[in-house]
Amino acid sequence: MCGIIGYTGSREPREVLMAGLQRLEYRGYDSAGIAVQSSVGADVIRSVGNLAALREAVGLAVGAETDSAAGAVGIAELPSSTGIGHTRWATHGRVTEANAHPHCDDQETIQVVVNGIIENFATLKNELVAGGSAFSSETDAEVVAHMVAAVYDGDLVDAVRTANRRLEGHFAFVAMTANQPGLLVGARHECPLVIGVGEGECFVASAVPAFLDYTRLVVGIEDGEVVAMRPEGIEITGLDGETIDRQPTEVDWDVETAEKGGFESFMLKEIHEQADAIAETVADRTVRADGVDLGDLGSIDDQLLREISRIVIVACGTSYHSGLIARYAIETWARVPVEVELASEYRYRTPVVGKNDLVIGITQSGETRDTLAAMRCARDAGATVLALTNIMGSQAEREADGCLFTRAGLEIGVAATKTFSSQVAALFLLAIRLAELRGSLEEKQLSDLVAAMKHLPHLVDQTVAATEETAMEIGRRYAKAGFFLYIGRHAGLPIALEGALKLKEIAYVPTDAYAAGEMKHGPIALLDEATPVVCVATDSAVLEKIVSNVMEVRARGAVVIAVETEGSTALEGIAEERIAVPATDPIIGALLAVIPLQLLAYSIASELGLNVDQPRNLAKTVTVE
Ligand code: G6P
Repeated sequence: MCGIIGYTGSREPREVLMAGLQRLEYRGYDSAGIAVQSSVGADVIRSVGNLAALREAVGLAVGAETDSAAGAVGIAELPSSTGIGHTRWATHGRVTEANAHPHCDDQETIQVVVNGIIENFATLKNELVAGGSAFSSETDAEVVAHMVAAVYDGDLVDAVRTANRRLEGHFAFVAMTANQPGLLVGARHECPLVIGVGEGECFVASAVPAFLDYTRLVVGIEDGEVVAMRPEGIEITGLDGETIDRQPTEVDWDVETAEKGGFESFMLKEIHEQADAIAETVADRTVRADGVDLGDLGSIDDQLLREISRIVIVACGTSYHSGLIARYAIETWARVPVEVELASEYRYRTPVVGKNDLVIGITQSGETRDTLAAMRCARDAGATVLALTNIMGSQAEREADGCLFTRAGLEIGVAATKTFSSQVAALFLLAIRLAELRGSLEEKQLSDLVAAMKHLPHLVDQTVAATEETAMEIGRRYAKAGFFLYIGRHAGLPIALEGALKLKEIAYVPTDAYAAGEMKHGPIALLDEATPVVCVATDSAVLEKIVSNVMEVRARGAVVIAVETEGSTALEGIAEERIAVPATDPIIGALLAVIPLQLLAYSIASELGLNVDQPRNLAKTVTVE
């Protein structure tokens, strides 16, 4: 996720842009930049690192202009102050100044800031290069500047509309050109873009907090629309250029609520962001219908993926649960044996590992000490090590032979939600890629899985919408229960483990999570009428077995809260509480079940009046043993 901001009006644009970026920093923070219009073009300042680095660069540049006069005089001559800014969370291309936004075409006519992913950027880039364009970054975003420039003939609104028609993916962008001072033009497709309307000024951003200090009058932009912003007002047009009349609404959020996007906590916001996080993680990797492209995995090439004889996954906490689900996907689809290990145990176990093994360290932060140590231990023994992390430039990336990134954006809630589902999505992609390279699936099975992955963000959105109210309601009803048992089988078992961990972490309610078939060997002794048993019972080859396990629970009088697949009748008249998630491939479908479990834990913690974002005794990044 990246954050974009734009301003046109009479204020000092650098201040407005920097203040806006500060409020958007949660969306990405590996590099940032601003571009401000001058009569001679645009002054572009970009820097690697967090916003402090950009602030310093902007401060120096502003000082320098007083001497050189070029920028300052240029700006003073213009009727308005206009600029765009961006805070980046790298997806395409490393964290470098050249890859930081704003980007421009090679004639420097058009400047753009882009959020999201242009899925067909490679095709477009090839066309543009063949037509003579020279690119200066590795990003997908730069094609937007070149595309707009290629069709620009004095009307930026038209050029944006025409270029926008060719772009595929999910994105939002804002463009400007010194040829039309005071004008900003924005468009979006499945990524946020909101306008702030002030008196004689206009703001545009990825999220409302970016301009809340200046105006509370907000206008939303829909997919396919193009918005022209000038100090005197905005004009929204539709796909065919027809004018759309939309009045601003006034938001009454304070800055804190706004940072949470209107949600009552970061965790709830992040639960809702899971579709986006998965879309970013999956998007450009599933462009081909017949397979998956994982991009640059360092020294881990296709040959190596074909030849490895075993995968060992090392991780901690929620990341360990991602590994457990990945085992089902990798073994079922790619037929590679997988072992999943708690990193804190593995590192002290003199494990048998060697050069035919691929060891995957899963860590959202990229800094978890035990996971790093387990990865080092495997590497020292001759294994190839792949890091799966959300953070570019993290220790895990630096120490591994290759790195696969999730693109969940910054996660502020201590209890992992969107980083978890993005990890699982990335591991599913890896499993599909392995299957493709090793020829373990029929073409049809392969293309069905790719299609299911492409569709996953939509199913996640549907799941949040369909289950939120019910899960919250059930949570409120059972909030006083002193103990919860979670059960599942197959890919549903790791989801049960993760659901139980969420409840422990944020609501401090004792839980146990067990393989449903093992229940009769111990945990069943815990059950009485007061015990809620949460059962992951989504469609799978073992659904009937789960139904038998649920019957065992019912026979002890315990209450069953089941997460099942839409349309399933297996637990009709058996489970007291039923929450349905959409149907898809059985392994992929198990992931959907985590959403109501996150919401259930959330609801119980809220009902108990707890701080869900910062649970006691826990930390987001664990750099100690
Ligand atoms: C902490 C966090 C968890 C996380 C675990 C592993 O315990 O609170 O949410 O799952 O660390 O973190 P990692 O960054 O390695 O995924």
